[in-house]
Amino acid sequence: MKLIVAPDYAGICEKAANIFADEIRRNPACVLGLATGSTPVGLYQQLIRRYQDGTLDLSHVQTFNLDEYCGLAGDHPQSYRWFMQKNLFDHVNIPPQQTHIPSGIADDPEEECRRYDALIESCGGIDIQLLGIGHNGHIGFNEPDDHFPVGSHLTRLTDSTIQANSRFFASEDEVPTHAITMGAGSILKAKKILLMASGQGKAEILCRSMTGPVTPAVPASVLQLHRDAVILADEAAASLLCRIIPPSEE
Ligand code: PGA
Repeated sequence: MKLIVAPDYAGICEKAANIFADEIRRNPACVLGLATGSTPVGLYQQLIRRYQDGTLDLSHVQTFNLDEYCGLAGDHPQSYRWFMQKNLFDHVNIPPQQTHIPSGIADDPEEECRRYDALIESCGGIDIQLLGIGHNGHIGFNEPDDHFPVGSHLTRLTDSTIQANSRFFASEDEVPTHAITMGAGSILKAKKILLMASGQGKAEILCRSMTGPVTPAVPASVLQLHRDAVILADEAAASLLCRIIPPSEE
């Protein structure tokens, strides 16, 4: 595992955009694993800026998002499909049929999970997977549990995640209780993983995830097992971790 530290949020977004842009230039038809939440927004803005100034062509990439709320259609403003349209897809040249997100309104969520995993496989697997980290250590919607789920699956959100995400809804009651998410196994299959973390509030869980025992009680700890996982943190988020893992020059 490699730790890269930037002074602030803008710095990690710039570095993340460089890593994504390098991958896309090296392999224009690469498969990107994307994430929602507040942390990746600045990265997406950087990718949009690079597309707009003509230095980045995204027309051949395929994208797979980590997760989607159950019960929300893609045109619901709190769905992750909507989030991705507004924060990235509407502003770049990825053909819509090359952007993939699990359907939150599939009649049979288990079948939707199987379809999603098969689609990822048929595209050759994920080249670079972007992640944020929840305050409880979740990655995607892999919540603290007693086992690591392998593939995409239906999951129940914890009360703390529902509470954290209620900031985007009119009330806590409106937050969906379930989601479809890629599993820890799906995430580990990515050739490269890039986890972004910003702010003092992530310092403790980031340190515990990367230096504590590998346990499904702290889902992000599974990343310790990946051979090419990069942790990109600002100084506040890295403040505890960097005492144990020396930051890399790049
Ligand atoms: P955040 O969420 O980027 O809004 O902090 C991260 C997550 O919950 O995975």
